[in-house]
Amino acid sequence: MVEQVEVSRRASSIEYAIRDVVVPAIELEKQGHKIIRLNIGDPLAYDGLPTPKHMIDGYKEALERQDNGYGPSYGLDELRNAISLSESSKGWACSQKDVYVTHGVTEALQIIFAAFLQENDTVLAPGPHYPPYMAYPQMYGAKTIEYRLDSLDNWKIDLDDIRLKMNDSVKLLVLINPNNPTGNIATKSEIEGLISIAQEWPNCTIIADEIYDGLDFNNSFVSVASLSKKVPVISLNGVSKVYFAPGWRIGYMAWHDPENRLTLVRDGVERILRSRLCASTPAQYGYLEGLQNSHEWLKSHRKLTEKRMNYCLKRIEEIDGISCESPSGAFYLFVRLTNPEHYKNDKKWVLDLLHKEHVLVVHGSGFSPEFGSGHFRMVCLPPISVLEEAFFRIERFLSS
Ligand SMILES: Cc1ncc(COP(=O)(O)O)c(C=O)c1O
Repeated sequence: MVEQVEVSRRASSIEYAIRDVVVPAIELEKQGHKIIRLNIGDPLAYDGLPTPKHMIDGYKEALERQDNGYGPSYGLDELRNAISLSESSKGWACSQKDVYVTHGVTEALQIIFAAFLQENDTVLAPGPHYPPYMAYPQMYGAKTIEYRLDSLDNWKIDLDDIRLKMNDSVKLLVLINPNNPTGNIATKSEIEGLISIAQEWPNCTIIADEIYDGLDFNNSFVSVASLSKKVPVISLNGVSKVYFAPGWRIGYMAWHDPENRLTLVRDGVERILRSRLCASTPAQYGYLEGLQNSHEWLKSHRKLTEKRMNYCLKRIEEIDGISCESPSGAFYLFVRLTNPEHYKNDKKWVLDLLHKEHVLVVHGSGFSPEFGSGHFRMVCLPPISVLEEAFFRIERFLSS
């Protein structure tokens, strides 16, 4: 037998539940089964929610102009300016130099973690959360600790739990708002509470992942940066969710540092950005069109998303064995398995559902072993006819 080259612990401990469950699904597809995939937060995987045409034209025109070269490392000036205007419209003074364009929010996260974290530092993230907040910090010798979102009270932030878990090692305090996987939107007073706790710890920066901000069904979204007078806030956003173009891989970080505490770490971030060259040039032109053009189209995308979401909520209410706190934004449902046997082993439940009924959802423990287990996450994006069939199968599975 050939001796295998060692894999690093950094790489072998990475888990990404959303795509890990696809492996057995592909096996079943190879055997000829058709799987209803409700696992991935990609609107383009379903009908009716396309990338707007003017954005595609902007991208295409850049390609045709031969704007296919390397761009500036921090992003195209026009795009940085348009992003700064968009952030300023949310209630804080963002200038062009505060914006760095990245290869999706995911790259922004990797760069932020690389620049902020040292051995034994802590990232305090909501539980449940989008998985890279747990997967990446350990690459830098740091760890992620979760603060509790209340599963029985609409996933509200447990500020006492944050207070309890704050200490000098916490370099980054994360708020995902609207949240993936719960769809909950933090209220102004919850955000103010979180900022006032962070304010007691001078080493702490807030990461505000606001990538679903335009998908707030009650128009209740408030930007974290707009409320912070002292604590540094890095807002994350991009083209993937609200502009319906996740495959373009364009995101950004916008730095709000009212007391200039982050000069050194910002220098580190800029060094990393220069060393990784730039984000995709033509895709940045596509995003620029999206920011500068009318946003009227978003109304119908939101309406359709909300209609599909409401259909899912209605069906969940009708089915014994599952329940769900009603999300106020994004496009996920984080569904509770009310039978104690299922609650105890959500991954087994998800895999059994896949094998028996060919419906793919993601186990809640993949979003938080502590606060997410006993749930599964599904997207509400497919057309209602597909959702209808999915719930029919889920109901049959639960009653079998
Ligand atoms: C909260 C959150 N942040 C970031 C991302 C990834 O963003 P991007 O596609 O810009 O890398 C996702 C994707 O699902 C997400 O849910």
